[in-house]
Amino acid sequence: MNFVIIVAAGTGSRMNSDLPKQFLDLNGVPVIMHTIDHFHQSPVISEIILVISKEMEQFWTDLCLKQHYRTPVHLAFGGDTRFASVKNGLEYIQKNFELAANDYIAVHDGARPIVSSSLIARAFRGAYEHQAIVLAQKSIESVRTGNSTSNNAVDRNQVWLVQTPQVFQAELLTRAYCQKEDPLFTDDASVVEKLGNRIAIVEGDAKNIKITYPQDLQIAQFYLNLIKK
Ligand code: CTP
Ligand code: MG
Repeated sequence: MNFVIIVAAGTGSRMNSDLPKQFLDLNGVPVIMHTIDHFHQSPVISEIILVISKEMEQFWTDLCLKQHYRTPVHLAFGGDTRFASVKNGLEYIQKNFELAANDYIAVHDGARPIVSSSLIARAFRGAYEHQAIVLAQKSIESVRTGNSTSNNAVDRNQVWLVQTPQVFQAELLTRAYCQKEDPLFTDDASVVEKLGNRIAIVEGDAKNIKITYPQDLQIAQFYLNLIKK
C-alpha cells in the first residue's frame, strides 16, 4: 500500500494572515483542497492521511460541507512543529493499518497545491528503487554560505532545493520518527538521514512551490491557469 501524509497543521506565520495559508482561497477553492485532489486523482496512492490542527477541526468540517466536498481522507491532528505533525500522521497509520515490507509512505506539505499525478508517480518510482527519496531541483541562483559579514561561495551545481512529496519505505520512515526527535527538522529526509540512511534525489518541478509569503498565492494562481490551458 502507498500512503500519503499531507501536513496542514501549521499556522503560516510568514503569510501574515489570520486564516492559516493552507485554507486561503486559490482560484475559488482553498489551497488544501487542490493539494488533496492531486493525491486523490493519483492511481499510486491508496490512503490519504490529512493532518490539521485540533483547533481547525470544526472549520474543516464546515468547509467540507460548504464545498460539498466528500473528502477521501483520514484525519489526524498536528503538533507544534512539522516534525510532531508528521509523527502524529505516522502514529495514525500504525494504529489503523498493518504495515508490510512493500508499503511506502509519502509526506507532502499541504501548502504545495501545484503537485501533480505525474510528479507523485515519479517520486514513488524513485522510492521503489532507492527506499528513501526527495524531490529536488538544482539551485538556479549563485549560492553563498555563512552570515552577512563572513561568507563563502558554494558551487551551485552541488546545491539542491528540496520539495515534497518525499517518499520512504514505510518501516524506515516510522523507525526514523520513533528514534529521532529534533524541533529543527524541516523535512523528512533529514530525519531518515540521521538514522544513517542515504537519500536519493528525484527531479522535482519548479512549479511545485510551497506557498509561504502572500505573493506566492499569485504565483500559484498563475501556474494553475498555465496547467489548465
Ligand atoms: N506544518 C504542520 N504542523 C506544524 C508546522 C507546519 O503540519 N506544526 C505543515 C504546514 O501546514 C505546511 C508544511 O508543514 O503545509 C510546511 O511548513 P511551512 O511552510 O513552514 O508552514 P508553516 O509552519 O505553517 O508556516 P510558517 O513557517 O511561515 O509559520
Ligand atoms: Mg514553518
